[in-house]
Amino acid sequence: MSELNNIALKIIGKGKGILAADESTGTMTKRLESVGVLSTPENRLMFREALFSSTSMTDCIGGVILYDETIKQISSKKTKITELISDMGSLPGIKVDTGAKVLAGSPDEKITEGLDGLRDRLKEYYKIGAKFTKWRGVYNITKDFPSKLAISSNAHALARYSALVQECYMVPIVEPEVLMDGEHSAEDCYEKTSNVIEKCFEELISHKVDLKGIILKPNMILAGNKSKNKISNDEVAKLTLKCLKNCVPSEVPGIAFLSGGQSELEATENLNLINKYNDTKFIMSYSYGRALQQSALKFWSKDIKDIKGTQKIFNHRAKMNTLAAQGNWSKGLEI
Ligand code: G3H
Repeated sequence: MSELNNIALKIIGKGKGILAADESTGTMTKRLESVGVLSTPENRLMFREALFSSTSMTDCIGGVILYDETIKQISSKKTKITELISDMGSLPGIKVDTGAKVLAGSPDEKITEGLDGLRDRLKEYYKIGAKFTKWRGVYNITKDFPSKLAISSNAHALARYSALVQECYMVPIVEPEVLMDGEHSAEDCYEKTSNVIEKCFEELISHKVDLKGIILKPNMILAGNKSKNKISNDEVAKLTLKCLKNCVPSEVPGIAFLSGGQSELEATENLNLINKYNDTKFIMSYSYGRALQQSALKFWSKDIKDIKGTQKIFNHRAKMNTLAAQGNWSKGLEI
């Protein structure tokens, strides 16, 4: 088994999942301000350190995606953040794209940037202790979008990124996120997500990426958040599985879903059903940002010194998702 495959299995094997704590400073500022906390480097670190030193880091969280600011910070115990995470039994990862920018040629769509100088940045992150990376392509659904241009240019960038990351001995998380914003139906989401994922694999294969050494981070198949025709959680799970079965080559070890604006409970329930119905060999786990942090952040904002209380809430969410990643969650386990 290749070393990259081993790393991927350490991150999402045995029901473990990923904590996506890689919000850019701009996004984190919005999140902190929404709960009335001043967004300073110290406060951003305090909240994140509370999560990174929780007991669920040992039992549930196989990997943490960090942002550039965080991976270079020193913990309150004077250790590197990457050491804190590794000492807890998890693996540190890093978001390496530099964000989604206007796509020339289709200005209402986005292309993710960050390839320039990437090889050198990867070497630096590897030295600091990163074992895996993330790059997010983002696509919106309308009658005409995502366009062929957005699908092919983002797939190309994801593939070039992945090849560079593997060259540097790290596992690339390949994240093509088809947004849930809009009035579209679940069928539209199914069709457009399928096109996006198929193109990503076409490019990954052309760029000679070792598919055993990646983790795919897709959206679930959902109706748009403004759609009048919502579908049941059962249908979400079945359509999501159908899409992945058709579009993902069997060498890929696993899939870690993004939560993408679903509530904490919805994201857990859908993941649980996906695992209940999973008749593939793919591991189906989570790489949640908001769906792992929301309640913990709300609690913490009321008293930023109450680290233990914050950790209790985070541990619960992580445990629920780890149960869901094995199809063993039920509503009665929620508090
Ligand atoms: O890129 C998106 C994040 O890593 C996942 O965040 O679960 O809040 O959508 P989310």
